[in-house]
Amino acid sequence: MKPSTPTHQTWKPGTLLYPVPVVLVGCGARDEKPNLITVAWAGIVCSDPPMLSVSIRPERHSHGIISRTRAFTVNQVTRDLVRAADWCGVKSGRLVDKFREMGLTPVRASRVDAPLVAQSPMQLECRVEAIHRLGTHDLFLAEILAVNVDERHIDRHSGALRFPGTQPVCFGHGAYYALGECLGTFGHSVRKAKGPPGPRRPIPPGRGRPEAAP
Ligand SMILES: Cc1cc2nc3c(=O)[nH]c(=O)nc-3n(C[C@H](O)[C@H](O)[C@H](O)COP(=O)(O)O)c2cc1C
Repeated sequence: MKPSTPTHQTWKPGTLLYPVPVVLVGCGARDEKPNLITVAWAGIVCSDPPMLSVSIRPERHSHGIISRTRAFTVNQVTRDLVRAADWCGVKSGRLVDKFREMGLTPVRASRVDAPLVAQSPMQLECRVEAIHRLGTHDLFLAEILAVNVDERHIDRHSGALRFPGTQPVCFGHGAYYALGECLGTFGHSVRKAKGPPGPRRPIPPGRGRPEAAP
């Protein structure tokens, strides 16, 4: 093995792992004003039980709400929701009603005490299992108790989710990007070639998770 990569500079440690998801996290108990916080430090951490984490700074208004209710929703950001996501990421719910200002519709989640964003095509309902203090951010580790998918993105014949149709957006190095081309499906590197890689085989609803989940 070579001692170093001569073509690469070594920088100081940082969060340079891109792209990452960008999501609208909904919070607020049924008797209080619903709030949204834009979060990029989010990710799936376990397949079964389905779990994810979001990292939130203690000074955020949403941090206090989620610590108290131990519930939040994760709403996929689409092309249509990018402006709202950016705005919700620079304004605090202490001062504004983000749902109202952005023309978003809050809907009560079925399994947790938190609001969903009706306009988002994929919504996850999450119950906080643990809160870990990391440094600048606290990590909220949560179980996904329900998943809601807009029927317009479900194939009427196969009942499968049409993932690209949801127009998901990701975040990288300070900018938002639309997700583009499918370059291959899980395991294509070891599968016998049958022509160019096509889009991922759709996942029928109720299956829970892809057949080749990591
Ligand atoms: C693209 C983007 C990603 C962000 N990611 C995070 C994050 O992962 N964690 C966090 O604490 N704040 C994050 N923020 C900042 C919060 O969304 C922002 O401070 C927001 O105004 C907090 O709202 P609140 O005070 O109503 O909770 C992000 C902002 C943007 C625009």
